[in-house]
Amino acid sequence: MCGIIGVVGSTEALATLLDGLERLEYRGYDSAGVALVRPGSTWRARSAAGTTSVAALREQCLAAPEGYFSGIGHTRWATHGAPEAVNAHPHLDCSGKVAIIHNGIIENHAVLREQLLTRGHVFTSATDSEVVAHLIEEQRRGGADLLESVRRTLGDIRGAFALAVVDASEPDVIVAARRISPLVVGTAPGVTYLASDVPAMWGRAENFYVVDDDEIVRLVPAGCSAIDLDGTPVRLRALQVDWDLETAQLDGFDDFMSKEIAEQPHAVRNTLLDRRREDGSITFDEIRISDDELRRVRRVVLVACGTSLHAAHIAKYAIERWARLSVEVEIASEYHYRDPLVEVGTLVIGISQSGETIDTIQATREAKRRGATVLAVCNVVDASLARDADAVLYTRAGLEVSVASTKAYVAQIAALEILALRLAQLRGTLTPFDIDEHLGALLAVPDLIATALRTAPAVRAVATELLGARDYFFIGRHLGFPTALEGALKLKEITYLHAEGYAAGELKHGPLALIEPGVVVVAVVTDELLHDKMMSNLAEVKARGASVVAVAREDDRRIDAVADFVLRVPSAHPMLAPMVDIIPLQLLAYELARGLGRNVDRPRNLAKTVTVE
Ligand code: AGP
Repeated sequence: MCGIIGVVGSTEALATLLDGLERLEYRGYDSAGVALVRPGSTWRARSAAGTTSVAALREQCLAAPEGYFSGIGHTRWATHGAPEAVNAHPHLDCSGKVAIIHNGIIENHAVLREQLLTRGHVFTSATDSEVVAHLIEEQRRGGADLLESVRRTLGDIRGAFALAVVDASEPDVIVAARRISPLVVGTAPGVTYLASDVPAMWGRAENFYVVDDDEIVRLVPAGCSAIDLDGTPVRLRALQVDWDLETAQLDGFDDFMSKEIAEQPHAVRNTLLDRRREDGSITFDEIRISDDELRRVRRVVLVACGTSLHAAHIAKYAIERWARLSVEVEIASEYHYRDPLVEVGTLVIGISQSGETIDTIQATREAKRRGATVLAVCNVVDASLARDADAVLYTRAGLEVSVASTKAYVAQIAALEILALRLAQLRGTLTPFDIDEHLGALLAVPDLIATALRTAPAVRAVATELLGARDYFFIGRHLGFPTALEGALKLKEITYLHAEGYAAGELKHGPLALIEPGVVVVAVVTDELLHDKMMSNLAEVKARGASVVAVAREDDRRIDAVADFVLRVPSAHPMLAPMVDIIPLQLLAYELARGLGRNVDRPRNLAKTVTVE
């Protein structure tokens, strides 16, 4: 998964590309590159400097010649070929005039490369993408213009792509196409842009348009036209954008992760805004599924990846408890390769911050193909997942930049829990009084999160004590279990330390063998009903020499007997506690990562949006 950007007709083409690449770094930062075109010549610069690739590219570009008004840029997350400059995009054809950038994977690249080699093409990288440059070169040699060359080339390639192509023989044109990987066009008077997302063009483009699957666009300074794979003209859909550049800036925080952690009360409050009508009924204006259809639901399947998968685990407890529906949680990357059962009345909910995670998109597409009604729970307006689905419920967390998801996670839980209440309301499985009570508790969560955020100094002190530790186990029971999974994921993601999340009761079935002095056990002990059980589990790990960090309620004094460190959070309704209990665990990961000198916003090997399988 990578970020792409392009511009035609700008006196500040290079600055546009470099600024855009900086904003696209969340999509990958193994290497970066740009290619500029003017009549008869293509100028290219590439750099592979890990997390500082775009900064290094900027340095190189100080030597760029004047007189280029169009170009393309790419920031890479390596799939085929090592993260080295030679594999960085843009890739050129044999003539050096055609340059391409690609986000996605060309699945039949090996066969195509073999064929192209036998026809005399010379390859300079180990990437799957380079075949595209040579395929277009062949079409160009045959006399087709750039648009037609790209259209014909799409017939040869299989896989996922957002592609953009320039050619020094048509220097005022960029041709781009999309299948699965995201692509957006932006326009301003006399300049036209494309990028993987809108923020890359903020401050420059004024109007935005979505390129849909199998659409090919031709950008010229005056605007953009589009065709489908048959060459028939199509109209691009205008995109409503309600985020601005300011939202994407740091506002005085050291990094986006700390900013986004602090924004969590707001993220949940926004997500819950206007969901309750005066008569007490719950409403989702954007959801596009009728009440009757929701009443007919007999089974719910939640598909997601990573942190969104942990939100799904939490939703399972809420939907089962409140709406009395059978719920399964599925790892999206596994779901669509099984032979999943989709019976009448199956509602499949795809949960994704970005709405562009390919595993989740594939899973929901498979479900839809088999007849399920698909609901997307998504943070990015008009993302692919949302567009594919029958219905969408937006989390309104705002732009999330840090690779480690925080505010989108709590917003997902809030959205899914209010959905659970709506299902309960329609099915009559809770009384109006209970629904009102739960809703009231849900609306109080932002304040509880704000209180939990005040644990930051205590967490910092604990992190200082733990800085030498290398092995972590996160444990919890009931809803403490998914919280433990998420705490462990946050820690490993940004500290690179070994961390595992376990159901506390499962520890004795194997992992207890790993507990010894030096291991840290982080326990979520906020559930009153399961407190005794958790205390026994903690006694077991204590007896084997582990250090214990407990996330406990403010009034819990018994925990002091077993925990070395206690992080106290306010009491929340047990079903809603995950949104509060996760706060000290996010902060712990953050403080440890900072203490270890890690780049918290851009952890190694990861990317914010995973658009490869
Ligand atoms: C979260 O901290 C991770 N970076 C990652 O697990 C993420 O949640 C996952 O890739 C799914 O992303 P999505 O929500 O955008 O689909």
